[in-house]
Amino acid sequence: MRLTVPAGLDRKEAEVYQRLDPARLPKHIAIIMDGNGRWARRRHLPRIAGHRAGVASVRSTVETASRIGIPALTLYAFSEENWKKRPKSEVDFLMGLLCRYLKAEVPTLNNNNIRLEYIGRQHELPPPVQEKMQWAREATAQNTGMILTLALNYSARSELVDAFRSMVDAAARNGGLNHLKIDEDLVSRHLYTRQLPDPDLVVRTSGEMRLSNFLLWQLAYAEIYVTPTLWPEFRGVHLLEGIAEYQKRERRYGGLTDGNSFQHSSPALKTVRS
Ligand code: FPP
Repeated sequence: MRLTVPAGLDRKEAEVYQRLDPARLPKHIAIIMDGNGRWARRRHLPRIAGHRAGVASVRSTVETASRIGIPALTLYAFSEENWKKRPKSEVDFLMGLLCRYLKAEVPTLNNNNIRLEYIGRQHELPPPVQEKMQWAREATAQNTGMILTLALNYSARSELVDAFRSMVDAAARNGGLNHLKIDEDLVSRHLYTRQLPDPDLVVRTSGEMRLSNFLLWQLAYAEIYVTPTLWPEFRGVHLLEGIAEYQKRERRYGGLTDGNSFQHSSPALKTVRS
């Protein structure tokens, strides 16, 4: 039986979508957008041309994810390390690009019922950028569809540090540190992503096999999909290909495969985390 294709998908996207099981779509997809610089270098262009071209990829990916009903999409746009280790001119360009993106994209986000959120140490960003971010968040706050989270000035280790500080502060306000009982659930509730489910799928473009300090806690059981496609060439159809690959995988969360399910009569069988 052929699936009804969601409105707005192009022919290539519709073809890949037909291979998906709509009942098993990831609830949260996280993407490490990488390869802008290499894309530009291959064309003898300055690095910023790669970032500029990457905006069309953001647009296509966001729209496709929303059209097929993905509840949450998180994009790693700007790491804390990017901020410290790239030339000021490139950082300034990225800040300007972000502001232009927010201004231009809010109507499309609203048309697609997408709510915008951020993770990362926003207070360290330039005040005019913070203002634009707040404006865009408020302008989309009433939307009830996909949550699009931009990771800006983000570092997973800083997020964990902030979570521990926040737990200690909360305990100090509520009866003192003697009452602090730390468990996984409490840590999750103090992360920047407390409103989101953990990602089921993390996509990295440009072939690099690293997590680069991205959502280290939340990605504990995520499926990893690495594509050689450079970010400026990535489109909705590539996202659908990643989802098709995800649906071929068997998620075990530290358990066993069905065919190997645990039996007390088989003491040799060990539970292996995978
Ligand atoms: C990594 O490529 C990409 C970035 C550091 C920036 C990501 C920004 C965009 C995709 C543009 C706009 C985004 C938004 C949300 C408006 P790289 O420069 O590290 O590439 P390289 O590894 O090939 O040098």
